[in-house]
Amino acid sequence: MKLKTLILAAGKGTRMKSDLPKVLHKVNGVPMVKKIVSVLDSIGASENILILGHKKELILEEFNNTASYVVQEEQLGTGHAVMQAEDVLKDFDGTVLVTCGDTPLLTKESFLNLYENHANNNNIATVMTAKIDNPFGYGRIIKKDGNVIAIIEEKEADEEIKRIDEINVGVFCFNSKELFTALSKISNDNNQGEYYLTDVLKVLAKENKKIGSSLLEDNSEMLGVNSKVQLAMAAKTLRDRKNKELMDDGVILIDPANTYVEESAKIGYDTVIYPNSYIKGNTVIGNNCEILSSTTIVDSKIGNNVRIETSVVEESEIDENATIGPFAHLRPMAKLDKNVHVGNFVEIKKSHLHEGVKTGHLTYIGDTEIGANTNVGAGTITCNYDGKNKHKTIIGKDNFVGSNTIFVAPVETGDNVVTAAGSVITKFIPDRALSFARAKQVNKKEWNKK
Ligand code: UD1
Ligand code: CA
Repeated sequence: MKLKTLILAAGKGTRMKSDLPKVLHKVNGVPMVKKIVSVLDSIGASENILILGHKKELILEEFNNTASYVVQEEQLGTGHAVMQAEDVLKDFDGTVLVTCGDTPLLTKESFLNLYENHANNNNIATVMTAKIDNPFGYGRIIKKDGNVIAIIEEKEADEEIKRIDEINVGVFCFNSKELFTALSKISNDNNQGEYYLTDVLKVLAKENKKIGSSLLEDNSEMLGVNSKVQLAMAAKTLRDRKNKELMDDGVILIDPANTYVEESAKIGYDTVIYPNSYIKGNTVIGNNCEILSSTTIVDSKIGNNVRIETSVVEESEIDENATIGPFAHLRPMAKLDKNVHVGNFVEIKKSHLHEGVKTGHLTYIGDTEIGANTNVGAGTITCNYDGKNKHKTIIGKDNFVGSNTIFVAPVETGDNVVTAAGSVITKFIPDRALSFARAKQVNKKEWNKK
C-alpha cells in the first residue's frame, strides 16, 4: 500500500463559538483530529499530513510537534487547501486520501472500502458517497453510464441536480500526480469565489480518467461537527461504540447510556460498571471488579476483584481484592496492595499501603508507607507538609494506629506498634511499643458549681 493522507483542518469553526480550534474539541476523550489520525494510521497510511491554518500551534502541540503539516494561510476553498500540499507530495507517486478534520465517526472499514475500491479498479479518483433523504447543502454526485463525471455544489446546482440524493461525503482517494495536475486547472469562478476540490473531478472526467465512487454503508458515520450540538452527537456515537465493544468482550454495563468509558481504557470480563461512572485515559481494570455509581477513574491500573464505590481514583495502582469507598479519593501515586481497604472520606496521595492495610474512615495519608496488616484508626492524619517541604511517614507492619493519631513527618514507627488515640507522634516508636503522646486528662472536682 502506497498511501498518504491529507486532513483538512485549516478552518476556524466559527459555529463552534469557541477559543479552541474546532478539530481540537474532544469526542469521548480524544481530540477529533487525533481520532481521525489514529483511524488513518490503522488503515496503513505511511504519512498523515495536516492542512492547518487557524491556531496551528495549538494543534501541533497536541501532536507533541511531531505531525507532518502544511499551512494554508488564507481559506480560499477545499481545492486551495489541497494545493498547499503539492510541494511535500511532488515526489510521491502513490494514492492520496483526502478527508476532513471534523468527521470523526468515519471508521477504518469505510476508509478501507474506499481505498480498496480505488486501488482494485485502477481509478484515478474515487469519491466516498452517501445516499441521503435530505441532500441539501452537500455536493451532488453526477454520473454518466455508472461513472462519476462531476460533483456539483449546492450553490451551483439547478433544480434537477438538487434532486439527486447521492452526495459527496468529502473523502476521496486520488492518484497523487493526477490530483495536482488537475488542481492546477481549476478556477474560483463560481458563486462562492472558492477553489472547489470537487471541480477536480470535472477536469479528470474531461480527460477520460477513470473516476469511481464508494457508497458509505452507514450514513451516521458522515456526521460533520460544526457546532456543540453536533459535537455531543459525535461523542455519543463514539461512546456507544466503545460500550458495545466492552459488552461484547464480557463487561457488564448496568446502563450503557449513562456509562462513560474513554476510547483508550481497557476493562476485563465480568467487571460490572454502574451508571454515571467515568473511566478515563489509559485506565486498565481487571476482571470481576465492581465499579459502583458515580466513580471516576483516571489513568489508573486496577487488578481483579476490586470493588470501588462512588470514589475518585487518579493515576493510582490498586491490586486484587482491594475495596475502596464510598467517597474515597486516591490521588496520584497511591499504590494499594492486595486486600487493602480504604473506606469513607479517606484521601491517599503518593503512598504505598502494603497487603491487608485497613484505613476505614476520615483519614489523610500522604507521602507515606504503611506495612502489611496495619490498622489505621478513624481520623488519622499524616502531617506531610511543613509549609515548605514534603516529608515522609513510615509506619511499620501490624501496627494498631489509634483514632485521631497525628504523624508529624518525617517520622517512623517499628512493627507491632500501638499508638494511643489522639496521639501526636513526632519521634520514632520502636517495635512492640505502646506510645501515648497526648495531654493527661485532668478532672477538677466540683468545678462547675452552678
Ligand atoms: C464540502 C464539499 C461538498 C461536500 C461537503 C461534505 C467542496 C467544495 N465541497 O462542502 O461537496 O458535500 O464538503 O461535508 O469541497 N477547509 C479548509 N480550507 C479551506 C476550505 C475548507 O481547510 O479553504 C476545510 C474546512 O475546515 C472543513 C472542510 O475543509 O473541515 C470542508 O470545507 P467546507 O467549506 O465546510 O465544505 P462544504 O461547504 O461543507
Ligand atoms: Ca463551505
